[in-house]
Order: sequence, then C-alpha cells, then structure tokens
Amino acid sequence: MKTILLLGAGQEQALAIEQARALGYRTVACDGAASAPGLALADVSRVCDIRDVAALLPIARAERIDGVFCHAVEIPEVVAAVARELGLPGLAPETAHRCTDKHARIAALQRAGIPVAGFAAVRSAGELQRLAREFGFPLVLKPVDNAGSRGVCRVDTEAQLLPAYDDAMRYTGNPEVLVERVLRGPQISTESVVHGGRIHTFAFADRNYEREDFYAPYFIENGINFPSRLPQADQDAVLALVERTIAALDIDFGAAKGDLILHEGRPHVIEMACRTSGGWFGAGSIPAATGVNAIKPLLQMAVGDAPDIDALTPRQQLGCAQRYWIPQGDAVFRAAGNFDAVRAMPGVQMFNTFFPTPGTRLHKAQNHAQRHAQVICTAATREEAIARAEAAIAAIDVVLETA
Ligand SMILES: Nc1ncnc2c1ncn2[C@@H]1O[C@H](COP(=O)(O)OP(=O)(O)O)[C@@H](O)[C@H]1O
Ligand SMILES: [Mg+2]
Repeated sequence: MKTILLLGAGQEQALAIEQARALGYRTVACDGAASAPGLALADVSRVCDIRDVAALLPIARAERIDGVFCHAVEIPEVVAAVARELGLPGLAPETAHRCTDKHARIAALQRAGIPVAGFAAVRSAGELQRLAREFGFPLVLKPVDNAGSRGVCRVDTEAQLLPAYDDAMRYTGNPEVLVERVLRGPQISTESVVHGGRIHTFAFADRNYEREDFYAPYFIENGINFPSRLPQADQDAVLALVERTIAALDIDFGAAKGDLILHEGRPHVIEMACRTSGGWFGAGSIPAATGVNAIKPLLQMAVGDAPDIDALTPRQQLGCAQRYWIPQGDAVFRAAGNFDAVRAMPGVQMFNTFFPTPGTRLHKAQNHAQRHAQVICTAATREEAIARAEAAIAAIDVVLETA
C-alpha cells in the first residue's frame, strides 16, 4: 500500500483526501488548524504549518511517504521541495518558483514572447510613484506571493496609489510589489494536466466578473459559466496560448491552471499556476460540467503510479454555473441557514458554506477569501444553469445586522 502526504485539510482539500483513500492509498494529512475537516478523514493526521518544509520533512520521512500532493493551495514550492528532498515524483523546485512568484512568472513569460500585461516590480512607495509617472493610469498592483485576489487592487488616480500599495503589502512578506497595466475583456479559466510530455487541457470556462465596477478597485469573481460563450476561433487561440505558456514555464509534471483574458481580441495570460485550481473549480464545477476529475490521475502521478489519463477526456458538456454568496457592504453577520432546502433545489451538484462566526463584521468583499458560500448547478443549457445557481444563492437565509 502506497502512502501519500496531503498538504491542507480544509473543506476543499478534504475532497483530495477522500479521493486518495478511494484509490487505496494510505493518507497522511497535514493542516495548520486542528479543526480542519479533512484531518478526521485521513489515516494519519498532523497539525503542522503546510508552508514549513523543515517541519514537513520529518513527518514525510517518519511516515515513509511515496508521494506528496496539495489540492488548490498556492504552495507548489513546498510540494516540490518535499518531493525533491525525498526523491519522489514532482515538479522541479525551480519550476515551481517560476510559476508561483508573480514577478518571476510574468518576466519569464514576457521573455518567451507570451502576451502579458506590461509590468514592473517596485520595492518602495517612492519607486512606485516614479513608475506610475512613467506608466500612467490605470494600473493593477499585486503582491508577488499570494492568491485569491488578496491584495490585488486597481489604481485609477495618483491619490489611490499609496492606499493600493498598502493593500498589496498587507498580503505579503515579500518586499516586491508587482505593477501591471490593465487588460480588459472576457476572462477565462483553464485547467490542464501535464504528463509524459503531453498537455491535457480538459476545462475551459468563462469567469463571471459581471459586477466588476461594484467591487472596484478589487477584483471579485462571482463564479464561472460552462460552456464558454467565446467564438470557437477565440477558444482555439486561448487553448494554443495555454500550451505555449505551459511549455514556456517548463511545467512538465502535474496540474496547470490558467487565468487568461481576451484583451483587444487577443488572448493574454494573467496567470498560469502549477497546481489545481481552488474556489471549487478543479474539484467542483469542472467535474460537474465535463465529468473530468483530474485529482485522481494527479494523485496517481504523485506516488509514481500510472495515471488514468482517459479520465482527463471530457465525457459531457453540460450547462454549468457556479455562484457565491458575497458580502455587499458593511454588516454584522448573525446567522445563515436553509442549507438543506438549497441543496435540494433543481440542478444543485455541490453546495458549501463557510460563513464566519456570528458577530463577525462583514464589509464589501475585497478578495476571494471573503466569499462565504458557493453553489454549483448543472442544466441542459448555460442560461438555465446560471438561473439555477442564482436562485440557489438567493435561497440562503442570511441574517445580517447593520454595522
Ligand atoms: N493586468 C491586469 N489587468 C486586468 N485585470 C487584472 C490584471 N491582473 C489581475 N487582474 C484581475 O485580478 C484578478 C487576480 O489577479 P491574479 O494575478 O490572478 O492574482 P491571484 O493569484 O490573486 O488570483 C485576476 O483574475 C483579474 O481579474
Ligand atoms: Mg488568479
């Protein structure tokens, strides 16, 4: 029996722990929080900082692991370091760094001739002000080492520059802040698995940014829609760019999740991460829409077993939509309910809630960690799936008090 180390045991990561068990692997799960729901599912569980390689290695050695995997957390560098140290299958740590540090990645992509936003990195507020004079507005500022839109902020005027810099710095321990020119257009999420020199891209969805102006200067995605509404020629161009991007970054093992944007009619890469996607895209809406569950072959690859590559071929193209419950303004959260009724609504494939403790002050969402429930609905058509997902979110009973 092979043993796999699974980093992270939150609600989403628990899905990977269940999959690993279903494959017959012995599971060792780690999470920084003793209350993480996945810990109870694993054969062995350890409370441990999943970003701390030095703390993970003794556990990995003591448990004689055959592989290491992490679903949907931005820690490919940790996964790669543990795999390298123990001589297990995985991505080279250098590649993991290139695909995770936003400055290293965009620089590598630009060198390779991949269309990306114009960019520069700054290390101080003064440097940022000089750069803004050169670049002009609008700009996007982002920490180089975070995810989920944390600290990503749009800047339209000189007066917004320093508050945005503080926002970005709040979400990083890295002195660098990345500054990009603003790209505009429809945004797309893709997911691929790279194995044996081949790229299998099995997911292509339109991201829902319909309330972009309301959430500005922050970027809040309210779920996705399948199938994409982009013309086939644009979809083909995006898929070709996904392949070039994965090759340019040297991703030769495991998952690759892309955020792309059709700017002035031409696909550009916003990011390509070497991990599975979070927000219940990788483990929720992709399986619901296409029948592809990439976690299974990825777990097999992680322990050096032959992966079930056939599992990466879409079996269906259902209409599928995901929507979130997102705070719209200042309020005190009191309670949320009616969950069983929501789960029983037409087309609901997955429904998860992650509301804060009663008494928590909410404000208009500024990043994706501030969304508090998600639903995935399928239907014969995209429009029907969207209507179902919106109705399901609206049916959640949330009690708020004015702040
Ligand atoms: N240069 C840009 N132009 C326009 N929008 C951007 C740009 N960079 C980021 N965004 C928006 O911000 C979101 C988060 O940025 P991203 O670089 O993907 O960081 P994260 O790792 O937090 O997801 C993107 O999905 C996109 O909507
Ligand atoms: Mg992103």
